[in-house]
Amino acid sequence: MTQTAEQRKELMRQIKDEVVALKNSPLYKFRIENKNLPVIGEGSHSAKIMFIGEAPGKNEAKTGRPFCGRAGQILDDLLATVGIKREEVYVTNIVKDRPPKNRDPLPEEIEIYGPFLDRQIEIVQPKIIATLGRYAMGYVMNKLGLESEILPIGKMHGRVFSTKTSYGKIKVIPLYHPCVAVYNSHTLDILKSDFAILKDL
Ligand code: URA
Repeated sequence: MTQTAEQRKELMRQIKDEVVALKNSPLYKFRIENKNLPVIGEGSHSAKIMFIGEAPGKNEAKTGRPFCGRAGQILDDLLATVGIKREEVYVTNIVKDRPPKNRDPLPEEIEIYGPFLDRQIEIVQPKIIATLGRYAMGYVMNKLGLESEILPIGKMHGRVFSTKTSYGKIKVIPLYHPCVAVYNSHTLDILKSDFAILKDL
């Protein structure tokens, strides 16, 4: 069902309230002890494209905004190269709280936060999901019935997969995580050409 802008805003607010109060999360104590904020997501609630990363890093947990550190700068630059404004898209993560030392998210963390991401997808109803990194790729492809297509990200990036959701057709494009491009200009070049594919969609 398509919601009004007001309803979408309210549904997102409910998600925020629930994540803020998520005391049974293994990351809750770390959040409170470090005066961190949960990072819900940012952008248009009716975006055609949704970017999904892994989990907030240090800058994100301090500000409550996704992709606002170095990886975020790369994401912004990539969006600019293909003429897409950040406010036109929706950007979020699977895991909404920062894992200690920015380690990879654990299966139990993905399990507890994943349903919030599922609800965000249902609210925004994007036509395209661009996953950033292998965790988001694995989660989204499994959720959307594409699990039999999963290969290592080196073989998946820039490929476009078509599938169905409860609200209609969707395309999924796995991308490398922008963090990898911070120190690797080859990955940055790959990301640039994959963003050109995204723009063509
Ligand atoms: N890495 C992510 O996966 N998400 C962020 O929000 C920031 C860095």
